[in-house]
Amino acid sequence: MKESVMWTPVVWIFVVASLYLETDAEYTIGVGIADVTGPPAEVTFMGYAKLTQKGRGIHLRQFSRAFIVDDGNSRFVFVSVDCGMIGNGLRREVINMLKTRYGSMYTEKNVMLSGTHTHSTPGGFLQDLLFDLSSLGFVKETFIALVSGIALSVRRAHEKMVSGRVFLTSGELLDVSINRSPPAYDNNPETEKRKYKYNVDKTMTQLRFISSDDKPLGVINWYAVHATSMNNTNRLVSSDNLGYACILFEKRMNPNAHPGKNEFVAAFASSNEGDVSPNIRGPRCQRTGRPCEVLTSSCPKGDECVAYGPGRDMFESTRIIAQRLTDKAWELWGQPDAVELRGPVGSIHQFVDMPKQEAQVYDEETKIISTVRGCSPAMGYSFAAGTTDGPGEFSFKQGTTTDNPLWNALRDFLATPSVDDIICHAPKPILLATGSMTFPIEWQPRIVSTMLGRIGNLIIACVPGEFTTMSGRRMRAAVKDAVIASGGPEDTEVVIAGLCNTYSDYVVTPEEYQIQRYEGASTIYGPNTLTLYLSHYSEMAGRLVKNQTGPPGPEPPELMNDLISLLTPVVFDSPKWGHEFGDVLEEPEPIVREGDTVRARFVSANPRNNMMHGSTYLTVERREGDRWVIEATDADWETKFLWERTSTVLGNSEVTVLWDVAPNTKPGKYRIRHFGYYKYIFGGVYPFTGTTSTFEISTGTRSRRRWQHKKLKPRTFCL
Ligand SMILES: *[C@@H]1O[C@H](CO)[C@@H](O)[C@H](O)[C@H]1NC(C)=O
Repeated sequence: MKESVMWTPVVWIFVVASLYLETDAEYTIGVGIADVTGPPAEVTFMGYAKLTQKGRGIHLRQFSRAFIVDDGNSRFVFVSVDCGMIGNGLRREVINMLKTRYGSMYTEKNVMLSGTHTHSTPGGFLQDLLFDLSSLGFVKETFIALVSGIALSVRRAHEKMVSGRVFLTSGELLDVSINRSPPAYDNNPETEKRKYKYNVDKTMTQLRFISSDDKPLGVINWYAVHATSMNNTNRLVSSDNLGYACILFEKRMNPNAHPGKNEFVAAFASSNEGDVSPNIRGPRCQRTGRPCEVLTSSCPKGDECVAYGPGRDMFESTRIIAQRLTDKAWELWGQPDAVELRGPVGSIHQFVDMPKQEAQVYDEETKIISTVRGCSPAMGYSFAAGTTDGPGEFSFKQGTTTDNPLWNALRDFLATPSVDDIICHAPKPILLATGSMTFPIEWQPRIVSTMLGRIGNLIIACVPGEFTTMSGRRMRAAVKDAVIASGGPEDTEVVIAGLCNTYSDYVVTPEEYQIQRYEGASTIYGPNTLTLYLSHYSEMAGRLVKNQTGPPGPEPPELMNDLISLLTPVVFDSPKWGHEFGDVLEEPEPIVREGDTVRARFVSANPRNNMMHGSTYLTVERREGDRWVIEATDADWETKFLWERTSTVLGNSEVTVLWDVAPNTKPGKYRIRHFGYYKYIFGGVYPFTGTTSTFEISTGTRSRRRWQHKKLKPRTFCL
């Protein structure tokens, strides 16, 4: 009795101490979001390489979402950006900007930038010439929007660092993705394919960030799928399926915040999406509706092979895919069995000159060790065929392994591939010997960024391009093996961060390469590209675990001073004769109902004059007492901002605002406002505002049901 009383305090200290250890926050964490929307007019979108796909407004704004984790010794930054991809030059500028503010806290070694790969955002932000061809060269406005916005998202995360915990979980999500190059996938070894149930990865990997006082801070969800639900006819800036999924999740956490103003940050980041399409109804010949030829994804003359679905139009497809992604992520978020990550935070980075890389491979059958090497960059014929997400402009077919004298003659006019190039890239017939094309600057990168990040037993493998499903699987396995072989945790998890730091097109397995689908033709360092990466990332993983630093590798060239830019700047704006900027040309209907689309038109100016970061080109406002409350901005799904030039000579333009009145919209008095800047002919840029008359949302209960039903007909919106 006496003894147990004596022991009680000691026992209690143990109990309390162990509880404390259990709940002790291991890390300090910061999350931040910032607007990175590019010029929404006159600039070709990055992705489909379709010259005519120039911006004409906004459906969804682009955001950068930053996550910082620090264990007291090391700091690691992961950023997911609503843009096509990240380039060497873009990342260098972001890091330079962070350096001027924070010194050596954020460097090449610990800042990882990954693009979501939306194909509906303005291009011209990469520096290698091939990637800027369709945007008429480099577009400084896009570049600056991205650099300043990405840096701002990191800064916001930095300023909000609190102690917290990180949890990892994952789950399977079907019905959002299909393989778009099955003939290539099927060429992988049978024994390997048998290990997997699907020909694409269906796993969503979720990283949860919670403060030590149990406040949700943020989430990253990795899922391998192309952000190409919006097709190559879309001309409104959009963050596509992954971007809208972010907004939907953020709205669940912060229902009253407009996109970009939320405290809680949710990223849906890209992964090994190289051969993965969201157009899950699959490819069909556009005119006849018949199946396409399988190996080449082609149709009889004059018809295109395009993949669709799951919606009736691209907006609905985007919404459905985004909703499914969000629902899955939400389900994972609620799962109690997530694993808490513990252990060191770290990262390792190295630039690699791919054409100079070598690796040893061991052939199981012949028992021979041989050396493989990288090739000087080149694109194959099938690259020009495009994909079933967006076919190419000429009559090229996927799966092409023979060449054509006429195209070869045209090619040789740009650069003749050397004998060595031809041998090195075989069986790829070379369409563009980009490695030999250096005028006026390099056309495709030779030097890529390679990087691994670590939070406890999670390794994030940042890959400089688009890995196919099987390439990603091999990479995850190789990195995990290397971590364990170097004494790292047995339960290591590896996730691929796609389109990360550098863009160097696609990476397929050597077996997929033989088939020369679009992805194989776009594997620019030749058939051994993946083999070289597997060997290199394994080596880096070993060093990361053992806390060794490696060589920094060769710096990519500075191209900033030699960039070509053919996009004309905004010359001047003037209002339509007899009008002022902001005048309302078309008023909304005075009474509207749920399911209606409200429409207003304004005298406007070129939106390139100011990208309204952190702000909006439009608001939908509701009267509450004696003030107006903002119900929607241009970043909301329900609004569309359309810009149209009405006279080039006179500098006239107009803006149309569309607002879909969603179910459960509050009844009452509303108005729509438009904000812009005009460029004065003698210089200077000045703001203007336009405001419609008030209109009313009526609850109109009696006829609504029938009326809504009628409105459910497909509303295609092709500009
Ligand atoms: C793009 O989607 C629209 C529907 O939103 C459809 O009418 C059009 O045919 C599609 N075009 C291509 C090339 O996929």
